[in-house]
Amino acid sequence: MTRDEEHDQFDRKIEAMGVRIKDANTVKVRDDVFDEVTLMALYKLVQKKQISVIGGPISTGKEANVFYGEHDGRGIVIKIYRIQTANFKAMTEYMAGDRRFSSVRGTRKGLIFAWTKKEFSNLARAHDVGIPVPEPLVFDRNILLMEFLGEDEVPYPQLRNAEVEDYGAVYQQILGYVKRLYQEAHLIHADLSEYNILYHEKPYLIDMGQAVTLDHPRAPVFLIRDIKNLNRYFSRYCDVTDEEEVLRAIVGTGRREP
Ligand SMILES: Nc1ncnc2c1ncn2[C@@H]1O[C@H](COP(=O)(O)OP(=O)(O)OP(=O)(O)O)[C@@H](O)[C@H]1O
Ligand SMILES: [Mg+2]
Repeated sequence: MTRDEEHDQFDRKIEAMGVRIKDANTVKVRDDVFDEVTLMALYKLVQKKQISVIGGPISTGKEANVFYGEHDGRGIVIKIYRIQTANFKAMTEYMAGDRRFSSVRGTRKGLIFAWTKKEFSNLARAHDVGIPVPEPLVFDRNILLMEFLGEDEVPYPQLRNAEVEDYGAVYQQILGYVKRLYQEAHLIHADLSEYNILYHEKPYLIDMGQAVTLDHPRAPVFLIRDIKNLNRYFSRYCDVTDEEEVLRAIVGTGRREP
């Protein structure tokens, strides 16, 4: 069977289960993303009734492709980590220092599956303490399903493209999230920027695959980098607080000065 024939057969199988494949564009990007493993994982999720519509692509990032979907009439995001083209080396570094995942070794596939699970756990921890992030729903192999943040199939804009009235207030709100992420969820986002924050009435943090626990050896480096990124962006629009002071506010007074 050729790949096209395989895909046709896959589409028929999926559609036989009552799942609509909505957007012809999905088919076009499929070839890079949908290898055997991914098709199987997707098939499993459909079979388990976690997906009722597979919609069009929202984004093609460095490591993942993001699609719109539906489950029980609710919008969901289908985030598929690419097995072949993900940045294996960078991912390994984030994994190795994180005690939850430090035993993950070996194959590219194994690493990507663990990474998918890591993003699920990170989102769950943040969501559990009430930080605005997409609610994670379920994962299978390299596919993560989460709540869709948007309206009428249109995602909320990234902060860099959003219309914000009061930048000072949004800056403070985000610093508040970073502090709660640190103090209550015991995580550092580690890729915080105007790309990984969506905005609609309030900011939402997204893209948490790389987020690490506080005991990661590079946790302090990641935290200061996140703060610098926020300050770099917000300094164009409002006054920002000195990064050392922000750091102290986030880490708190747990550390006594001599
Ligand atoms: N839950 C969501 N709801 C709405 N839109 C989303 C959601 N998750 C992601 N998106 C959209 O897809 C884009 C890419 O998502 P995300 O940042 O998670 O992956 P990525 O940047 O491709 O990953 P990587 O950093 O590995 O390349 C986001 O900028 C956003 O526009
Ligand atoms: Mg991103």
